[in-house]
Amino acid sequence: MAQLWGGRFTKETDRLVYNFNASISFDQKFFAQDIEGSIAHVVMLAKQGILTKDEKDIILKGLTGIRRDVDEGRLQITEEYEDIHSFVEANLIERVGDVGKKLHTGRSRNDQVALDMRLYTRLEVLYVDGLVKELLRTLLRIMEENTGTYMPGFTHMQKAQPVTLAHHVGAYFEMFKRDRSRLKDIYFRMNYCPLGAGALAGTTYPLDRNYTASLLGFEGPTLNSMDSVADRDYVIEFLSALSVIMMHLSRFCEEIIIWNSDEYRFVEIDDAYSTGSSIMPQKKNPDIAELIRGKTGRVYGALVSILTTMKGLPLAYNKDMQEDKELTFDAIDTAKGCLGLFEGMVRTMRFRKDVMEKSAMRGFTNATDAADYLVGKGVPFRDAHGIIGRLVLYCIDRQCAIEDLTLEELKSISPAFEEDIYDAVSLKTCVEKRLTLGAPGAEAMKKIIAAEREYLEKDWQIERSI
Ligand code: ARG
Repeated sequence: MAQLWGGRFTKETDRLVYNFNASISFDQKFFAQDIEGSIAHVVMLAKQGILTKDEKDIILKGLTGIRRDVDEGRLQITEEYEDIHSFVEANLIERVGDVGKKLHTGRSRNDQVALDMRLYTRLEVLYVDGLVKELLRTLLRIMEENTGTYMPGFTHMQKAQPVTLAHHVGAYFEMFKRDRSRLKDIYFRMNYCPLGAGALAGTTYPLDRNYTASLLGFEGPTLNSMDSVADRDYVIEFLSALSVIMMHLSRFCEEIIIWNSDEYRFVEIDDAYSTGSSIMPQKKNPDIAELIRGKTGRVYGALVSILTTMKGLPLAYNKDMQEDKELTFDAIDTAKGCLGLFEGMVRTMRFRKDVMEKSAMRGFTNATDAADYLVGKGVPFRDAHGIIGRLVLYCIDRQCAIEDLTLEELKSISPAFEEDIYDAVSLKTCVEKRLTLGAPGAEAMKKIIAAEREYLEKDWQIERSI
């Protein structure tokens, strides 16, 4: 049991207590960030004359040596230490002797862990953003190839009006674009350095917090030392953004599962992204889509968990906050895994354009257009709506589509119908005449696609300064 704080104790910690309290099994995940933060801290201490140049050089050599040895597998991070901070400090002292004991000058594990978590989260925000961007590229390619692929659009899971595959996928493009904008907001809001807040009330050493912040690529230091060690808003915000990303993935997965069913057959998921059944030889199941849908609950769980953990905590640091880590790490890894797999599944999926188009021609998806046609012939919309309603009933009786009726039959329902009705309610007309901004008509869609292409080319990119 290696602890940093034995001085005022006369008894060994109970083994169960030690294990319950320890966090090394999971906080080793931000080992690299712990070293990075310690390096910046030491460089700042030396600049301020709190450490000599020699002391700084010795400590830096020790820290970089530990990092190298861990990275190259010569040094194991073991559970004999309470947490990753103790592991680094104990190893440093072992390597460089008493000078190593000066590393923690003007610092507490409270601001240290706040920094590590922030550095880790910041990196993951960028990583997740990159994955969402990859997905957007794939979606845009599908959109570009399918501005003329007609399919039914649904409301209430009932066929409503025809759209195109480009338009349907474009809806998800907008969702994932908003996700990226949320990540960007989070990045800029969280990019302030808590180091130097000490346990909660700053320190008496003349630290240069602006300098530490700039060394670590932050916009600046945080402005209240109690808030600095007590704040996990950025974790909550990130988990919330991840939850929304998962919700978007899950909705898309749900559609893919439906589209992939034998009843729809709109898509065929590639063999590489499907699985079979141990008993039913014919089965090819959309397990990946189902798992992504399922794992959404897990990410929501992490968000609700940390919100609940934080809601009763008085200022400043409380050990409850150690609970921010496992679930957050799990949620980040889950969302990253899902984003990558989803992108692959969609990239390799086969769209059955003929089936989609046939489906769009059934179910009276052109009924609104038929009503609009009558309006064009001078019939007030409300009357036109009633006439087409009766027409639809007539067709249901005969199990046919509006365009299957003869002009005589149509005229018997309303004399306003003329020969040009057939063209007016053809699938092509119904889609291609929808040209309002954001509508599925190919000419409208192509303008949006051009704008999205530009968005992907020139949007934000944060270069890590360290
Ligand atoms: N493992 C702790 C955590 O994750 C580090 C901070 C410990 N600070 C303390 N005062 N016990 O929150």
